[in-house]
Amino acid sequence: MTNPETALLSARGISKQFAGIEVLSDVDLDLMPGEIHALVGENGAGKSTFAKILAGVYRPTRGSLSLNDQHVDITSPIVAQKLGVTLIHQEPISFPDLSVAENLVLGRLNSAPLARIPWQKITRDAQALMALLGVSIDVTKPMRGLSIADQQMVEIARSLASNSRLIIMDEPTAPLTPKEVATLFVIARRLRDEGRTIIFISHRLEEVRALCDRVTVFRDGHKVATERTANLSDSDIIRLMIGRPLKEYMHKQGSIIGEVALKLTNLTLPGKFHDISLAVKKGEIVGLGGLVGAGRTDVAQAIFGIAPAASGAIEVNGKLVKINSPTDAIAHGLAFVPEDRAQSGIFRTLAVEQNITAAIAKRIAPAMFISRFLERRFAQDSVAKLRIRLASLRQPIGELSGGNQQKAILARWLLTDPSILILDEPTRGIDIGVKAEFYDMIGELAAGGRAILLISSELPELLALCDRVLVMSEGRLTADIPRREATQELIMQAAVPRSTHQGVAA
Ligand SMILES: Nc1ncnc2c1ncn2[C@@H]1O[C@H](COP(=O)(O)OP(=O)(O)OP(=O)(O)O)[C@@H](O)[C@H]1O
Ligand SMILES: [Mg+2]
Repeated sequence: MTNPETALLSARGISKQFAGIEVLSDVDLDLMPGEIHALVGENGAGKSTFAKILAGVYRPTRGSLSLNDQHVDITSPIVAQKLGVTLIHQEPISFPDLSVAENLVLGRLNSAPLARIPWQKITRDAQALMALLGVSIDVTKPMRGLSIADQQMVEIARSLASNSRLIIMDEPTAPLTPKEVATLFVIARRLRDEGRTIIFISHRLEEVRALCDRVTVFRDGHKVATERTANLSDSDIIRLMIGRPLKEYMHKQGSIIGEVALKLTNLTLPGKFHDISLAVKKGEIVGLGGLVGAGRTDVAQAIFGIAPAASGAIEVNGKLVKINSPTDAIAHGLAFVPEDRAQSGIFRTLAVEQNITAAIAKRIAPAMFISRFLERRFAQDSVAKLRIRLASLRQPIGELSGGNQQKAILARWLLTDPSILILDEPTRGIDIGVKAEFYDMIGELAAGGRAILLISSELPELLALCDRVLVMSEGRLTADIPRREATQELIMQAAVPRSTHQGVAA
């Protein structure tokens, strides 16, 4: 019945308003069986909203959908699931206290009596899926405690388990290592060759090019193009996305490098990182490269007092300090933009303006109470600078698109005017149009005498921004490369684990 010329899914005139504001306008799109279809666009362009409409999370305000030429009303995620449409969310929504295997079968048990749930089979099936994905995740362990990368893999496994015809992946690769991305691509291609359809949302054009047969570009809620990927150059795609030429980022100008601001000596947390000694000077941007899971975030969390090191010393501006909590860290002039913003950065139900000013209570409350005027002014400045797309500063931050939430959290920490700033994957999920502005801001902060430690898995970012690139692998520092000598190859060589053992050598 599915002849190859018939679309698997057709969207006609899909529009969506939130509180009277239109965020998607008249989107027409045909998705063919057996294609990988990229969806690209700036932060807030409407990609996730469109994905959620297909997956029954949101109802469109106008427009219709058909599957194999049959009109369908996708009224809920359960209906979507029954129709064979699965969405892998931008922020995984697993149940943290259930095991991986339980998460994989969630929603498919059809309320069988507990006693009749075939747990052994479920565990075996889950193990088989993990083997298929080529990942070693213990499926009997609770989801809590899995790395973001592993949680994402479980989300992907879940879509495979439910035998979907249309799998929508919303920025699935952001937290994955290059090896995991390669595995995902192999799996995606296999699914395509079986005749399934995949929507792939990503801000990384090289991934779109490597994986996707066709690409659709959204701008400001409108579909501006659908084309075979091969027919578009990167600059074509960027021009369609942002409607103007891309601002060139000037490589960091040498700022005046001053005294050591942050110094770590033999910082160790067994099982996480070992003998980390490094120094970041005023005016210096030090990169910390490595693969996901190398221990970089653990080091950052130790410096910021979230999970302090077991031994070793931290000095700030030449003085030995004890940092046992983020409060201690902030008191010493540190700021930390965490990688996992969904969990550690955002007060989802609070207004955008409150989220942005959350770390500068003193500056917006010169008297006893918070000045709404100052709060708004600081927030407005940040919104303009980082081009945060929103309906109102009073809107709950949870309503912003993923990339815009991230920009708001960045804005929060930039406002604290820290002397030492630690950034963990700060541009993950940020669109290509804003990255250059963001790099300029980091460059300005360094020029103003701040010491910056930048954790990034994006090699071009490290090369463009950093005075020095340190590399971690398996919990240890494996390289310290000055800017002049730094190349992608050198960083990668130092990042790849030398041992064949899994995990961190104790
Ligand atoms: N529940 C909601 N309530 C109000 N506005 C919303 C809601 N969800 C999304 N929006 C708005 O709709 C617009 C499109 O958001 P969407 O999440 O679809 O963007 P996106 O293209 O996925 O961006 P990103 O690349 O940052 O993930 C944004 O302006 C966002 O603030
Ligand atoms: Mg999104």
